[in-house]
Amino acid sequence: MAGEMLPIDKAKFVAAKRAAEYIEDGMRVGLGTGSTAAWLVRCLGEQVRNDGLRIKGIPTSTRTAELAREVGIEIISLDEAKWLDITIDGADEFDGDLNLIKGGGGALLQEKIVATASDQMVVIADIGKEVESLGNFPLPIEVIPFGWQTTQALVEETLISMDVLGRQSSLRMNGDRSFITDEGNYILDLHLNRIGHPRQLAMVLNQMPGVVENGLFIDICDAVVIGYGDGRVEVRDINEGTVEQNKIDFVETDNLFSDLQE
Ligand code: A5P
Repeated sequence: MAGEMLPIDKAKFVAAKRAAEYIEDGMRVGLGTGSTAAWLVRCLGEQVRNDGLRIKGIPTSTRTAELAREVGIEIISLDEAKWLDITIDGADEFDGDLNLIKGGGGALLQEKIVATASDQMVVIADIGKEVESLGNFPLPIEVIPFGWQTTQALVEETLISMDVLGRQSSLRMNGDRSFITDEGNYILDLHLNRIGHPRQLAMVLNQMPGVVENGLFIDICDAVVIGYGDGRVEVRDINEGTVEQNKIDFVETDNLFSDLQE
């Protein structure tokens, strides 16, 4: 395996590896969704199996639940956990205020519910996810299938009065069918290019009847662990700015790296 990992995968892995240090014995841990979060789940699984780490995982998607079980992490539901010590998840974009766009993997609804029910949310991301202002990545919104085209038209019309650069939207597809979320809904991707006032947009979108939730995570993230392709990591805290710059040493062992490609 050595030498085969792409820099982007190394960046995701070192971010996940560093973030795993936040986890202590006995914690209830929100497990994010996506390729970066999958590295975290693998790292934690290894600690459970090899070091006797005892945690309860609350997954944010069926995909993550399957992976967590596979690597040996005990899974409980959010309602069983009631409140979480920490959630660690990926992001599609983060800005200087640690506001996020999430939902590229379609799990934004469960991700936001779980993160909001946590003492702390830590994002793990490669440096390519950092942006001046949010919006280059299409903003996902989860919508009810009933009347989705009417909802889409209403959203596009509402965007006229918002501080955004584009207002096209597209229904997310899975092959030749609509993508269906874990909650049985659709995803509309909003091609906004730049979001001037993310907080305002998040509130306006959530006021529309057919919109279940949007992928803007405002004031939810407490810290971002940023990974670089050469193995460096940086920890940025919402209150204190950059609090750590480090380099992670790792060996590409077969058990952790062999079959993880999302
Ligand atoms: C899943 O719905 C998303 O919110 C992911 O957290 C986000 O898309 C980041 O995914 P990657 O880690 O695969 O880039």
